Amino acid sequence: MRTLEVSLGERSYPIHIGSGLISDSALLERSVTAEQVLIVTNETVAPLYLERLEHGLRARNTHALVLPDGEQYKTLDTFSRIIDRLIEMRFHRDACVVALGGGVVGDVAGYAAASYQRGIAFVQVPTTLLAQVDSSVGGKTAVNHPSAKNMIGAFHQPVSVIIDTETLGTLPGRELAAGIAEIVKYGLIIDPELHGWLEANIERLTSLETQALSHAVHRSCEIKAAIVAEDEREHGKRALLNLGHTFGHALEALGGYGTWLHGEAVAIGTVLAARTSQRLQWLSADDCHRIENLLRRAGLPVRADGVDPDDMLEAMTMDKKAGRHGLKLVLLRAIGEAVVAAAPERDVLREVLRGDARA
Ligand SMILES: NC(=O)c1ccc[n+]([C@@H]2O[C@H](COP(=O)([O-])OP(=O)(O)OC[C@H]3O[C@@H](n4cnc5c(N)ncnc54)[C@H](O)[C@@H]3O)[C@@H](O)[C@H]2O)c1
Repeated sequence: MRTLEVSLGERSYPIHIGSGLISDSALLERSVTAEQVLIVTNETVAPLYLERLEHGLRARNTHALVLPDGEQYKTLDTFSRIIDRLIEMRFHRDACVVALGGGVVGDVAGYAAASYQRGIAFVQVPTTLLAQVDSSVGGKTAVNHPSAKNMIGAFHQPVSVIIDTETLGTLPGRELAAGIAEIVKYGLIIDPELHGWLEANIERLTSLETQALSHAVHRSCEIKAAIVAEDEREHGKRALLNLGHTFGHALEALGGYGTWLHGEAVAIGTVLAARTSQRLQWLSADDCHRIENLLRRAGLPVRADGVDPDDMLEAMTMDKKAGRHGLKLVLLRAIGEAVVAAAPERDVLREVLRGDARA
């Protein structure tokens, strides 16, 4: 097991990464110190891992809430279901919510933990690659509004993140690829070496090779932990983590959250960000091609065929990152160097979205 720390003063917490951690009762008991524990999971993950986690936590008084599966359930209704259960069970302020599942479960359970009695302890046990490398770390919790993603939420750091890489063995290939999109993001924004490593090792990741997975998860968490420690509330550097996300969130909203997986939308968004950067002559055609090629090799979509550019532009301005000073985008100066910049004029974006400015 390897352990990293997210350094946030008295809210610092460990990220444990290893194989079989979901049944490590010594680690679980150390990480979940509350007497009353609500494990929030979903109908896909529960049959696979709930019993193991409950067994690992047998020294605690655990209850489980099994939610329906899907991004379309990341809503205020689901949030209310969790709060209802906490009230029904008469949970105190020193209780703990444990999220067992992907980013959807983590985000909605985390938001419930942030809100119940103004905030109770929260432990993340992420079981998708995307959640392991991204959503379980950093304390962003949220639910979607029908017209825009993650519109309702709070910052609430977990007290511990327990990453069991063995759980990736049951993840469908499409979901695995979606997680790789976020790993590619880390290389692009800050770590050209990671990008090079991914180019050399991408097939080891898609075939679930343990050592390669462990390296990629560890390096991703290390980068995210450092950025979050520097800028917890996204006043500066943390915004770089949104590379590809303004385009991606718009695609997800246009597809009614059912067409693209989050990571797939981010992959397409990353290519659009790279092509915008190329159009501004910040990024070479060769680098743009490298990025697209790597995402393609990971099994990710790189084009949003059939999406109307004007619908996209409209949806992009609904994104949370479109502040009162206009739309901002994360763009690339080079592989490994991202910047937050004012979006170029609509005509330029329309051209990129239409694919006229192809790499
Ligand atoms: N809070 C953050 O900082 C942050 C960052 C990135 C993404 N997100 C959010 O995360 C969500 C996407 O997360 P996701 O990609 O994990 O999606 P997800 O939670 O929907 O999980 C994907 C699918 O895999 C299933 N699954 C989970 N673990 C499994 C396992 N081990 N074996 C088999 N099936 C398994 C799930 O039931 C689901 O069907 C989005 O809502 C996104 O907005 C949040």
